[in-house]
Amino acid sequence: MSIRVRAPGKVNLSLAVGRRQEDGFHPLATVFQAVSLVEELVATPADDVTVEVTGPQAGLVPTDGSNLAVRAARLLADATGVEAGVHLAIRKDVPVAGGMAGGSADAAAALVACDALWGTGLPRSELARLAADLGSDVPFALQGGTAVGTGRGHLLSPVLSRGEYHWTVGLSPRGLSTPEVFGAFDALVGAAVDPDPVVDDALLRALLAGDAEAVGAALSNDLQHAALELAPELAETLAVAEDAGALGVVVSGSGPTVVALAASPGHAVAIGRALLDAHVVAGVRQAVGPVPGARLVAERG
Ligand code: C5P
Repeated sequence: MSIRVRAPGKVNLSLAVGRRQEDGFHPLATVFQAVSLVEELVATPADDVTVEVTGPQAGLVPTDGSNLAVRAARLLADATGVEAGVHLAIRKDVPVAGGMAGGSADAAAALVACDALWGTGLPRSELARLAADLGSDVPFALQGGTAVGTGRGHLLSPVLSRGEYHWTVGLSPRGLSTPEVFGAFDALVGAAVDPDPVVDDALLRALLAGDAEAVGAALSNDLQHAALELAPELAETLAVAEDAGALGVVVSGSGPTVVALAASPGHAVAIGRALLDAHVVAGVRQAVGPVPGARLVAERG
């Protein structure tokens, strides 16, 4: 018996960050888009909960109990009283520590896969509740598409969005720690920041109209300044993508991955070539969004 699940990485089209709360988290108002850099997870029966990770950056991912997919499997087992184990084989496609929620996608994929493998049959709403306990971005990896995220980013409302968006993804040679980027944000703006962040209406109107140019113009990220403090070289990546005619360029989430919105798939390739020629990235990928959330793609045995 084996269960194969895919779950997408995300881009924050806009990310408004409020003042740090007493629990250490920041209130967010963000628009997520799930994109076609996708984690694939195969779950097979086992005595214990174990994980193996493959892909170019696999060495950067822990395979002990701190692995978010392992934590997801254990959380589901605890919540449902299941005593079985599972072996999780993950093929990573989303940059590690890149601000695209690859670990969250692994957790969402593990919830869906184990729910099918163990026959626990939880409703999506219950999986979403467990997802929110695992991390702020895990519910969106489960849901996919385009959504507004509020609270810690875990309270989701679907967004009406027309058309396909073509992205050039500029990979960084190093990762950034999300808590460190939020810490740099606090040091930069401190108490000056608005406690109640809001979503930009212009972005929502642009998505509804399927107007890629207007979406590009509305891309924004309150964490970008903090990410640039920690990784100043990203300024050049942003500038090169802009010079290559991107409709908009932004650091994804807490970074350091940079995403540039292109006018067409061919344009996305051209922006990628410009980034490589300027030697400002470790690599480039093309992606398209929106794509679905975590879903079962095959069941064998
Ligand atoms: O929810 P998640 O575990 O992914 O968050 C990782 C870290 O990012 C948190 O411990 C916190 O430092 C920071 N964070 C935050 N505000 C949010 C989401 C995450 O400060 N809304």
